[in-house]
Amino acid sequence: AEKIILDVDTGSDDAVAIMTAILSPDIQVEAICSVAGNKDIDKTTENTLRVVQHLGADVPVYRGCSQPLVKFLREDRQPKKVHGLELVVDGKAVQMHADTLDIPEAKIHEQETPAPVFYLNYLHQAEEPITLVAVGPLTNLAVALMLDPMVVEKVKRIVVMGGGYKVTNATSTAEFNIWYDPEAAQRVLDSGAEVVFVPLDATHRACVSKSDCARFREIGTKASVFAAELIEQRILMHNAFQPLDIPDAAAVHDALAVCYVINESVLKDVRYVHCAIGFRGLGEGQTVVDPRHVTAEKNCWFAFDGDREKFVAMLNEILALGE
Ligand code: BDR
Ligand code: CA
Repeated sequence: AEKIILDVDTGSDDAVAIMTAILSPDIQVEAICSVAGNKDIDKTTENTLRVVQHLGADVPVYRGCSQPLVKFLREDRQPKKVHGLELVVDGKAVQMHADTLDIPEAKIHEQETPAPVFYLNYLHQAEEPITLVAVGPLTNLAVALMLDPMVVEKVKRIVVMGGGYKVTNATSTAEFNIWYDPEAAQRVLDSGAEVVFVPLDATHRACVSKSDCARFREIGTKASVFAAELIEQRILMHNAFQPLDIPDAAAVHDALAVCYVINESVLKDVRYVHCAIGFRGLGEGQTVVDPRHVTAEKNCWFAFDGDREKFVAMLNEILALGE
């Protein structure tokens, strides 16, 4: 099994990603780090602990950064403002990410070490380079890399759910994770690590439909039933605000990044490109991929497409494991 460290801002699709990683026999989750993004750090940490506890897994959770690296003073990065759209269904407000996940409150506890410090400790001791899978804003990794840029030698690759070439969600030019902390994303790109972007172009193509959810429900494990609930809620939001090519379907972004580690062929049209991050104005948080042939030095892998069938088949198989 491949050892990974997961970095999350749980989050409905983060929750599916965590369950997929924990249950997959091909992955060994060494630790999970929380970060502020979808919700404030208290909520993303609590939600992460809830998911770990829900599966009865023995994985340490480290609390990460509560604010973005540079944009922490910005009004639109304050936790109360990063709320997202809301839909009223049967008199109840539905969001893409509920404040707290609808599973029992966490009785397990987070570790004492802050996430960036954990990264340094872990990587310093690591005998072999490890894969990092970051599916929230990249603040924790940026801080760790700032404290000790040399740890990059112990990083096999960084799989990042984030960015978008033709598809965006936070603004007209930006995807949420990169938009929330653009400077952190640039620092990760500049670190020298191998970076693989799993952007919206891929996650929107490899979407999960209502009938896929019905099948997850039938499987009847804790993970499959909870995933079905989470994804059905995401479908409501997609239908209302960003319908996909396939009707009644949702992107489950973060889980696709985890599945890539298990089976790379779940992403399609993965190209080595030059990407720079926009910091301000209209292009704030944009992943500016250079489409030209003559271009600045290429610095990352970027997935332009995803394999929906393969992704759903993997979720079916993996979420069926466990109780
Ligand atoms: C990303 O933003 C978050 O809202 C999701 O959890 C995902 O990581 C998609 O843009
Ligand atoms: Ca996320």
